[in-house]
Amino acid sequence: MIARTAFGTFLAERGLDASFGEPLAPYTTLKIGGPADYFVRPGTPDELRAAVEAARDADLPVRLLGSGANLLVGDGGVRGLVIHLGRMRRREGLHVEAGYNLAKLVRETVDAGLGGLEALAGVPACVGGAVAMNAGGRHGDISGAIRYVDVLTPAGSPRRLDRRDIPFRYRSWGLDSHVVLAAGFDLRPDPDARRRCDEILAAKKASQPLGTHNAGCVFKNPPGAGAGRMIDECGLKGARVGGATVSRKHANFIVNEGGGTATDVRILIDLVRDRVRARFGTELELEILLW
Ligand code: EPU
Repeated sequence: MIARTAFGTFLAERGLDASFGEPLAPYTTLKIGGPADYFVRPGTPDELRAAVEAARDADLPVRLLGSGANLLVGDGGVRGLVIHLGRMRRREGLHVEAGYNLAKLVRETVDAGLGGLEALAGVPACVGGAVAMNAGGRHGDISGAIRYVDVLTPAGSPRRLDRRDIPFRYRSWGLDSHVVLAAGFDLRPDPDARRRCDEILAAKKASQPLGTHNAGCVFKNPPGAGAGRMIDECGLKGARVGGATVSRKHANFIVNEGGGTATDVRILIDLVRDRVRARFGTELELEILLW
């Protein structure tokens, strides 16, 4: 780790205020996780680019933090630079910066009579995180509504990628070495969008523990199967390690009921995997990211 003050000065010269040892738990929906060595909140794509360049010059690993909604940060925190997207939230029409709140975008577009993002109702995310995860569910995913994504390439140059050049897959956009700066959406007038959005949201409220401290579905659905149903059939609803429990409402959610640690969650994840493997012979793959 290079000296704190040296890297702080380095960032300051690029117009960025860094903090050191910033606790990450408050920035995650699970409310779990230790500190980041270095933490910055750029306000513009140019500042974000400067932060990425500074970290590269200093040989520090970089992580992008959006809504922290699909993420388990380790109790020991993370080394290197965490770039928080929360201040990058400008929107011009359907061109939307990475830090923009997805729920707000869904609401605003549906209010404007535009369809295409309803499937994202009830998904806690920012636009950048939702693109990078290809967020979605049973009713579709975000890739279906994307026109283009503005990125920083691994070499650090800004580029606009057409939707057709992005290898979107189930819960992945296939370009993890790129940074999402903004996305352009392709929506269409649809008088039915509001009704569909309300229905999807109501179904999620009925079947998912919304409003608790969780990170969404913990595991990907194996091909042709449902992780939640398999975990449920193992009788694991309500299983607990420390402050972490398998939700009684939807078995693919782990809830921090207070005082939970990343270690609690990881032990519970291993327990769930062991039981599902023993009963179904299936290896569950994580959907959430581990930092
Ligand atoms: N089920 C159970 N027990 C449970 C949970 C589900 O029996 O504890 C059954 C349900 O009754 C239903 C079936 O499993 O018959 C499927 O459940 P659900 O409709 O909840 O869908 P899912 O496959 O579990 C997926 C996404 C969710 C998304 C919903 C709704 C994945 C891993 N999960 O869940 O996404 O919200 O569809 O669109 O792709 C997420 O990605 O974080 C997430 C929550």
